[in-house]
Amino acid sequence: MALWGGRFSEGPNESVAKLSRSVHFDWRLAPYDIRVNIAHVAGLKRAGILAAEAADSITSSLQELASEVASGSFTYSDADEDVHSAIERGLVAKLGELGGAFRAGRSRNDLVVTDFKLYLIDHLLEVAHEVVDLATAIDEAAKANIDLVAPGFTHLQHAQPILFSHELAKHSHALLRDVDRMKDWLSRNSISPLGSGALAGSSLVPNPEIIAADLAFAGVTRNSIDAVSDRDFVAEALFIFAMLGVHLSRIGEEFTIWNTQEFGWVTLDDAFSTGSSIMPQKKNPDIAELARGKAGRFIGNLTTLLVTLKGLPFAYNRDLQEDKEPIFDSVEELLTILPALRGMIQTAKFNGEAISAGVLDGHALATEIADFLVRASVPFAQAHEISGKSVALAESKGVEVHELSDSDFAGIDSRLGSELRQTLSAKSAIDSRGSINGTSSKSVTAQITQLEAKIRGYSSWIASERKRFSGMMGA
Ligand code: ARG
Repeated sequence: MALWGGRFSEGPNESVAKLSRSVHFDWRLAPYDIRVNIAHVAGLKRAGILAAEAADSITSSLQELASEVASGSFTYSDADEDVHSAIERGLVAKLGELGGAFRAGRSRNDLVVTDFKLYLIDHLLEVAHEVVDLATAIDEAAKANIDLVAPGFTHLQHAQPILFSHELAKHSHALLRDVDRMKDWLSRNSISPLGSGALAGSSLVPNPEIIAADLAFAGVTRNSIDAVSDRDFVAEALFIFAMLGVHLSRIGEEFTIWNTQEFGWVTLDDAFSTGSSIMPQKKNPDIAELARGKAGRFIGNLTTLLVTLKGLPFAYNRDLQEDKEPIFDSVEELLTILPALRGMIQTAKFNGEAISAGVLDGHALATEIADFLVRASVPFAQAHEISGKSVALAESKGVEVHELSDSDFAGIDSRLGSELRQTLSAKSAIDSRGSINGTSSKSVTAQITQLEAKIRGYSSWIASERKRFSGMMGA
């Protein structure tokens, strides 16, 4: 059903109808579209544009339509241009001419942004919920391995000993930043564009702030031209999703490496691995690889939108219809990958022996030698040089630096006394890093306590926002 046509001598050419059509993807907005229309009809009733009786029967038909959409008994047809026309067709089928009365004073331009914002609020909260669950699963794995020592890497080379729990928990910290961005997104974008009309505001609905409150928005946009053109909230959401995707890709990369025969640090559960069609022995970490691979499309979706917006004239242009598919794609892919990745981590077996085995390889205690000298008042540049010489001697002898004898050390520098030996263990290296951000057992335990407090905070924020939102939708 078309929402326009009076000034046209004929309907659109078939190729135009096909090009123009968005209902096959924007149908996802149907529940929000109906809810926004209910709020708009209440506004028309308050303004005396719709008589109470007419407004009430439109509202109850919209409510009926909402249940039919939810159950699938009402859906779009080939002839519908977009979700808005499909909903109006449904209403006209119930009410006849009255079904066309409800869109007075609003345009699809303000409607579509309002629908889309509601969709995003709803789904951002769902993604946030999944991200917190993933951060929690990683936190659990960290706690289960709290004192396991591991080599820490820079440049994918052994660098310094760390606790494996510190290594794991870093991902939870990154993921909670994503959740924090979502919270920040909501605090900035919870403003309703409805009442902006096509571009100039509405002469029929005088109080958009009442409608905004009805839809559980925190406020109303203050420039109608900006409001129908603004897709910053879409770009911001796509950035949040892209950044989250990058974080997931780094988790995926790490598990892929840990799962190799060479590392053998992690054994993935059969239910969270896949096989090969030709090599019967293969058990591949495809979930981790897909987590890594999806990042590309999330970044692509952000790029798609920014390129669409660049240089676009103000108020509504049809280019803006291209804003939705990138979001739908990012949301749906994230909601698919997040639970799979969580399950993979929850069921993974971390092989403690393999993880700790090489902790001192690669002269990983060389920094301890330099730090020991600095504590004995040697300037760091000199201490670095002396430790480097120790490494060179160890290399020439084919041993690790901590395996040099007391007399080897004394021969390099007289200040490398026998007390040095106490600092030359993974445990000592780890325990000595006891600052608030460090890898000592005490530090990591305190960090995890703090992490869990943050997780609880975000969880209760998400739960209360979701409750508020579903209350509004059910109203
Ligand atoms: N399907 C359109 C979109 O998604 C709805 C708005 C149409 N507005 C217009 N003036 N043609 O952007």
